[in-house]
Amino acid sequence: MDITLFAGSIETWKGDALVACIPESKDQLPPLLQQIDSLSGGRLRNLQQAGELTGQSLDMVLLHHVPGLVANRLLLVGAGKPEKFGLPELRKVAAAALRHLKSKGVRTIAFLLPPDIPIADAAQAVTEGALLGDYEADKYKTDKNDQKKVAAFTVAGLDGDQQAEVEAAVGRGRVIAEAQNFTRDLVNEPSNALTPRILAQRALEMAQQFGLEAEILDEKRIAELGMGAFLAVARGSDEPPRFIILRYSPREPAASAPVFGLVGKGITFDSGGISIKPAEGMEKMKYDMAGGATMLGVMRAITQLNPPFRVMAFVPAAENLMSGRAQKPGDIQTSLSGKTIEVLNTDAEGRLVLADALTYAKRLGCTCLIDAATLTGAIVVALGNLNAGIFASDAVLLERFLASAQAAGEKMWSMPLDEEYAELMKSHIADLKNISGQRGGGAITAAMFLKAFAEETPWLHLDIAGTAWLDDPKPWSARGASGIGVRTLIHFLTHYPVGQAPPDGPTPASVPRGVKS
Ligand code: BES
Ligand code: ZN
Ligand code: ZN
Repeated sequence: MDITLFAGSIETWKGDALVACIPESKDQLPPLLQQIDSLSGGRLRNLQQAGELTGQSLDMVLLHHVPGLVANRLLLVGAGKPEKFGLPELRKVAAAALRHLKSKGVRTIAFLLPPDIPIADAAQAVTEGALLGDYEADKYKTDKNDQKKVAAFTVAGLDGDQQAEVEAAVGRGRVIAEAQNFTRDLVNEPSNALTPRILAQRALEMAQQFGLEAEILDEKRIAELGMGAFLAVARGSDEPPRFIILRYSPREPAASAPVFGLVGKGITFDSGGISIKPAEGMEKMKYDMAGGATMLGVMRAITQLNPPFRVMAFVPAAENLMSGRAQKPGDIQTSLSGKTIEVLNTDAEGRLVLADALTYAKRLGCTCLIDAATLTGAIVVALGNLNAGIFASDAVLLERFLASAQAAGEKMWSMPLDEEYAELMKSHIADLKNISGQRGGGAITAAMFLKAFAEETPWLHLDIAGTAWLDDPKPWSARGASGIGVRTLIHFLTHYPVGQAPPDGPTPASVPRGVKS
């Protein structure tokens, strides 16, 4: 989809559909719509008075051949209450408008930027919304004839002298949305089309395309290094594991900044292993590599946005299957860190592969660790499918990350990490056990297990089990992979204040904090 700018007078834009946001207000139209209203002989006011133009969030009114407009259609999209309207809402409005018009076969769209948001931020959000809204998981549909496509999306409502600034913002929006869609593509792949080896190949191709350094460790190398926890998970499958490492180095490094290690769970299929999952819903476990795909998407954007510090990604990729070679409940594994783990449930495999990946990231010099994983069903019990769970060992890191989540329009909620939970992960026979054996607090005890491997390094963990997959489509999004986490991480990294030492020292735990919106 082409994205262009239009700095002319909006009545003269020629194309299939012009989109404008309309705030929820009984008796007022914003200035630009007042202008269209008077050109059209009061059509908008009439609709408003008839109660058909409410401005309620994502409410759509599509008008054809509005007098005074060259555009064929005018789509008025509800922006909701003005005091709640910001960048996340604008991104959603653009995405929902595009999906609505696409379903009607519209091919060219102009989106009128709302007046009350700084122009560059608005242009970036609208670009992201358009590209994210346009995304479809249709790779495996062979009949493409009936598929409707938007050819061009135009950002309108700017002056000629804002053109350069808006162009740069559109460029950033494109990089970010394309990174998120890259992640979604990987997550939507079925496990027969995305084995650990294929995931590694896709990561390598992306790295070559965008100038990232890449290294893929095979089974032999993984064993030589001593990643016993990761290998134990991979053993049950005939498909060999891969450990994917991507590196970004800045052209001009800042004097003092952390080295970020992004660690993502890359289980391309999770059957549960010998502790097998029920058949119902097992097909969804192809998305158990969403954390890994998130980190690959972030790296794709980072290398184009050039922050002044090093960022590395680590994705341990394996299938969790059962076979005569698979690990069994009760087995004890020695992790790369040297810590021993009693595996009481082979379905708690994500934490095993992440344990070794976190240790390896530290070995390679990362001084700030962030991991993303579809780690636990328990996070779905705690937060449903709306918020991702955040667990952080560092207060400053947490604060910055939550601010980025809010700015990026991704809902995340901070969860507790009291030291007392660590007791529940101690084994009688080994250093740690991989499940607590308790009914409650499963997302927290899983995070505590990871924390034992992050040790003193500032660390933040994202549990995206409930948010990485949309069972039903939304007005602003196709069903399937959501790409959650990509925008927040990109925002966090590109807004990280450089020249500051990495955050240090653990925080008092269990202060529940989160983003409200
Ligand atoms: N991949 C699952 C977690 C998951 C659940 C992801 C639902 C997406 C949706 C993970 O490997 C797992 O199976 N966790 C177990 C842990 C349990 C055995 C302690 C779980 O959450 O049931
Ligand atoms: Zn599992
Ligand atoms: Zn899993």
